[in-house]
Amino acid sequence: MADLLSATATPAHALQLRGVWLRLGREVILRGVDLDVSRGEGVTLLGENGAGKTTLLRLLASALRPTRGEGRVMDFDLRDSRAVRDQVHLMPVDAGLYPDLSCAENLDFALRMHRAAGDVPAALRRVNLEAAAARRVRFLSAGMRKRLALARAHLLARPLTLVDEPFANLDDAGRALTLHLLGELRARGVTLIVAAHEPDLARQVAPRALRLSAGKVEEVGHGS
Ligand SMILES: Nc1ncnc2c1ncn2[C@@H]1O[C@H](COP(=O)(O)OP(=O)(O)OP(=O)(O)O)[C@@H](O)[C@H]1O
Ligand SMILES: [Mg+2]
Repeated sequence: MADLLSATATPAHALQLRGVWLRLGREVILRGVDLDVSRGEGVTLLGENGAGKTTLLRLLASALRPTRGEGRVMDFDLRDSRAVRDQVHLMPVDAGLYPDLSCAENLDFALRMHRAAGDVPAALRRVNLEAAAARRVRFLSAGMRKRLALARAHLLARPLTLVDEPFANLDDAGRALTLHLLGELRARGVTLIVAAHEPDLARQVAPRALRLSAGKVEEVGHGS
C-alpha cells in the first residue's frame, strides 16, 4: 500500500491521504478518507460538532496514527513523526501555550523547538501584545491567548499550517487580524488548513472547502 501512494505522490502535494481510517477507543472517527491538497493551497474544513475535524488535524500533525490507510505530508510518510512534525504546525483550539511561560518566552521556545530564528518583539507587536510580552500566559484572556497562538503560527510559518477554529473568542478586530495574518502565510506559500464553523470568514483565506461527515471528506461547492 505504501508503494501505491509513493507511485502517485508528487512534490506538488502538501498532503495525500489514501483510505485513512481512525478509531479512537470504541469510536470510528474516520472511515476511509482520501484527500489530496496541493502545496500552497488554502482549505477550509467544515463539519458539525464532533464530526472529527480536530481529530483529522491531529492526525495530519502526526499526533495520532491512522488505524488503517496511509498518508504523506510534504513528501514524508505520516508514520515518520519526527520529519512530519518539523514540517507542520498545529494551532489548537485552546491555543496550546505554556501557561507558566510569558508571551515572549512561549514564542522563543517555539522557535527553538524548530531550530528557527525570528523577531519575537515584532511578532508580539503584530498582534497587539507588546505590552503583555512579559506577562505569563495564565493571566491572559482567551482572545489574547488566541492572538499569541496566531503570532506563533505566523512566526513559525511551517510549510503545512493547521489552524483549529481560529476565529473563536476573538473580537471583530481580532478576526480581521487573523484573516490578515493567515492571508500573509498563504502569500508566503504556506499550505493552510483551517477548521472552522464560519465558512464565509475562513474561505476568504482558504477558499477550497471540505466537509467532514460520517467519517468521510467531501468537497463543498462555492455558495454552499
Ligand atoms: N481521545 C479521544 N478518545 C476517544 N474519542 C475521542 C477522542 N478525541 C475525540 N474523540 C471523539 O472523536 C469525535 C470527533 O471529535 P473532534 O474533536 O475531532 O470533532 P470536531 O469536528 O473537531 O468537533 P467540534 O466542532 O466540536 O470541534 C467525537 O465523537 C469525540 O468524542
Ligand atoms: Mg474541533
